[in-house]
Amino acid sequence: MRKNIVAGNWKMNKTLCEGKSFIEELKSTLSGKQLRCEVIIGAPFIHLASIAELATDSPIGIAAENCADKAEGAYTGEVSAAMVASTGASYVILGHSERRAYYGETDQILTEKVKLALANGLTPIFCIGEVKEEREAGKHFEVVEQQIAQALFSLSAEDFGKIVLAYEPVWAIGTGLTATSDQAQEIHAHIRSFIANKYGAQIAEDCTILYGGSCNAGNAQELFSRPDVDGGLIGGASLSVEKFLPIIEAF
Ligand code: 13P
Repeated sequence: MRKNIVAGNWKMNKTLCEGKSFIEELKSTLSGKQLRCEVIIGAPFIHLASIAELATDSPIGIAAENCADKAEGAYTGEVSAAMVASTGASYVILGHSERRAYYGETDQILTEKVKLALANGLTPIFCIGEVKEEREAGKHFEVVEQQIAQALFSLSAEDFGKIVLAYEPVWAIGTGLTATSDQAQEIHAHIRSFIANKYGAQIAEDCTILYGGSCNAGNAQELFSRPDVDGGLIGGASLSVEKFLPIIEAF
């Protein structure tokens, strides 16, 4: 039941033209290959419709990097979950540490976003993770428990079962400092048992938990070999097919 996933998060990179070229290149590179994981690309809103169309009849799924916490209405500049779904995207990255830190996204806002995503048939890829000071103080388990409980534990078991989690220690994002596979395995297993306590062993067992933070061709295989690491959410190394492909092939 548990899926392995390698997902890219382009963040605020690539023009539409560059995004389309990437998808065309990835599609042709993956064609005919036997994949042992799902492949997802998270892209800026304005790219979604075009790249989702290009990705038709390919193994590439498309994710938005955010959606609004309101269903519709007078919210200038926002993009709703229904709009994201209408582009052909199937996933939405929510709760990324950059959105929490720079755009003030609270657990309460994230709960609304998750509910709207699910109501519109999107699969949330929900990010959690501690900052450096919290890791150094030994508070990382507590931090991820709080993030999960506050934003997600009001969901029914059925809805929680639709969510993909991504553990992204903030100190590892874009820094070249990857968590060791022991650190990743330890906290992923902890997250899984925390979920089991709330929703039961089966839902916890079926939950895909990705690792993110300076994951690359050099460390993906080691990370993905651990039993509770079900793939990766990849930033910098998802910006070129050359760097992204070996991560997909690490499974
Ligand atoms: P990097 O892979 O660039 O460290 O980014 C990870 C990330 O934030 C993915 O969401």
